This record gives sequence, structure tokens and C-alpha cells, in this order.
Amino acid sequence: MSTNHTVSANAAKYLELEDQFGAHNYHPLPVVLEKGEGVFLYDVDGKRYYDFLSGYSAVNQGHCHPGIIKTLQEQAAKLTLTSRAFHNNLLGEYEAYITKYFGYEKVLPMNTGVEGGETAIKLARRWGYNVKGIPENKARIIFAEGNFWGRTLAAISSSTDPSSFKGFGPYMPGFGLVAYNDLAALENELKDTNVAAFMVEPIQGEAGVVLPDDGYLKGVRNLCTKYNVLFIADEIQTGLARTGKMLACDHEDVRPDILILGKALSGGTLPISAVLADDVIMMQIKPGEHGSTYGGNPLACAVAMKSLEVLKSEKMAENAEAMGKLLRTELEKLNSPLIKLVRGRGLLNAIVINHKDPEVSWELCLHLRDLGLLAKPTHGDKIRFAPPLIITADQIKEAVGMIAEALKRLS
Ligand SMILES: Cc1ncc(COP(=O)(O)O)c(C=O)c1O
Repeated sequence: MSTNHTVSANAAKYLELEDQFGAHNYHPLPVVLEKGEGVFLYDVDGKRYYDFLSGYSAVNQGHCHPGIIKTLQEQAAKLTLTSRAFHNNLLGEYEAYITKYFGYEKVLPMNTGVEGGETAIKLARRWGYNVKGIPENKARIIFAEGNFWGRTLAAISSSTDPSSFKGFGPYMPGFGLVAYNDLAALENELKDTNVAAFMVEPIQGEAGVVLPDDGYLKGVRNLCTKYNVLFIADEIQTGLARTGKMLACDHEDVRPDILILGKALSGGTLPISAVLADDVIMMQIKPGEHGSTYGGNPLACAVAMKSLEVLKSEKMAENAEAMGKLLRTELEKLNSPLIKLVRGRGLLNAIVINHKDPEVSWELCLHLRDLGLLAKPTHGDKIRFAPPLIITADQIKEAVGMIAEALKRLS
């Protein structure tokens, strides 16, 4: 555990600049990247790495996907932003495209994922007052313990992770929590007639790829229907082919009332998020009641359509399903005493490290970096393995070879 994982003098210059002039709100792995292509990233010294994080699943289509970049460049040269004060020639086309793609009547375009979450909650509250008949200012939204949906004050108000919420109060009222994967606890909460919505990740990504039991999402759907509560699925990390289907909810054939997408909606090029719902929910919001300067900008519309198109035309969900199975099988074959558990679905996977000291996971990621693979621990003992969805079987095998070698160097 005393290995010297220094960076080059060249890379050190970049670390120093960030350290001196940037807020210290992240703790990145010491590697400085300057180029990406497909499943690979390259550092400032030209060294190549497998990207096993994919920008927290924003780069599902692979780094600098040629088709997405071409669309981005062509549209950027023509028109980038009009604001919603005026119409643009791509917004309607994009809205028709994405609503047909996912089977909803309307879409509300935003930018970051957390804005998607905020939008979904505003929609649910408004629906709660106008349609369900919840008394003014009494609407409640229920979340699952261990959730992560961003860093705004509303998002941290629903968090059970002290490093997210501690010292940032007071918190948003009207939020409640239930244990994840516990339908009985959920039913208890939903009996309260002031509950407007339950917002949940089909697989908890940031919590360390926590999968609920089979049937959980169906159970959530049934309970929400039974108690007239909106089912909001946060598919920002799990959606867009990551788990081997277009949406993680598709594994159980359930349709949420509100669907939130982000991240890979732009293939890792721009912050683009979207909230999808039917008219009975979406039409409760009137002009001037919600929006964003960049939401629905023509550059985002063009890029999002292309990003969605290549997911299907290049069969990325199918590849994620097959390569995910291979990855988990190969990891299990390692039989390492340092791996307590391999879990995941499609190419959203994690290993749980069998060691009490969280430094061990960090050290393993440093060894992986030295060997040419980038991954990062989450919550101490979990390391996510989520490469771009275009990875091949040979690449999976080469990457698992690196993981095997890193484990050997640790023990
Ligand atoms: C499930 C989920 N929801 C929401 C977000 C927030 O997205 P953003 O960082 O784009 O605001 C994230 C980010 O990791 C996420 O994983």
C-alpha cells in the first residue's frame, strides 16, 4: 500500500493550477486527460486508458462519437441559441422525435440532470394541486433512501448522505424518505393523500449500483396507480441503453408517469436533460411558470436527436447487455479475495471491495490508472465499472486483465 503513484511533471502543472484557483469540491483521481476516442481517454503525456466511468454514464455512445460531433459542429456553425422568447426550427422536430421515441405526449427540455429532477418535482406538485386535489402547500414527494439526483438545495434536501446535505440547511419542506427496495414501507407512505409523487432510480447509481429485487419496479408502478401517486423514474444514469435496454424500467415493462433523462442524451458533449410526461401532467404548467435560457436550444435539439439515433442504429443496448454479462463473468472468474461482490445490469456494474479501509479502493484505482484503466470509488468500498457501450469482447477481456493485475499488485 505504499506504492508511489506520482504523476509526470507535465501533469503536475495542471493539478497545481486546479488546486490553486479552483474550488476544492471534487477529489479527482490524479490523471490529466486531453483527448477521448471511443472507449479510450488519453492523458497530457499521450498515455491511453480504458474509460470505465464514461463521465458517470454521460458518454454511453463513446468519446467524440463521429456522428454526434459532426452534427454538433454543423449545427454550431449555423445556430446555437435563440432562447425560448422565439421559436427555432429544431425544437418542434426534437420534441416530436423524443416523445415518439419514448412514448409520451409531451417533453420539457432542460440542461443538467438536476434541473430535470427539479422540473419533475414542480410538475408533480402542480399535478397534485390541480388534479389530485391536494390542499395548497401540502404536497409531499417521497424519495428512496440512498438516492442521488444532484447538488441543488432541493436535491440535497432528499439526500441521506451527510456529505451531500450536512451544513447546507435549512432544507426543502414536503419531502419524505422510504427505504429503497421496500414496497411495504412505500405503501405505508403512499396512503397519505397529500403524497403527489414517488421519485426513484430504477438502479441506484451513485449509491454504488444498488439493484432492487426483481419485481420492485412493477410493485412501485402498482402502488402508485393504486394510491393515485405519480411514479417519477430518474433514468438519468440508468437510461439510454446503459443497463442493456433503452430504459432500466423496460426490464420490468413498466411505464413511469414522469421520465427524467440527461447525461447520454448528448453523448457527453453538452448538458441536455429532458422530462417526459403525458398532457394531464405537463399541461398543468403555463407560460412563464417554468423554463431555462438554454433549455431546448437548437444545438441541444440537433445533438440530442443524433445521440438518440445512434443508440438504436448502433444497437448499443444489445451490446451493453452482452458485454455486461461478459464483464461480470470475467470478473467473477478472477475469484479475488479482495472482491466481495460483483453486481450490475448491462454495462452499469460495480465491485464491492472486501476490505474495511476505504483507502484500499482508492489504491486499487491508482494501480488501475498506472495499468491504463480509469475508474473511481464511490462510497468508499465500491468501484463502478461502466465503460462506453461500444466496447468489444476483446477490449473487455483486456480490461479485466488489467483489473486482475491491479488486484495482484494490491495483495
Ligand atoms: C440518477 C441521477 N440523477 C441525477 C443526476 C444529476 O445530474 P447532473 O449532474 O447532470 O445534474 C445524477 C448525476 O450523477 C444521477 O446519477
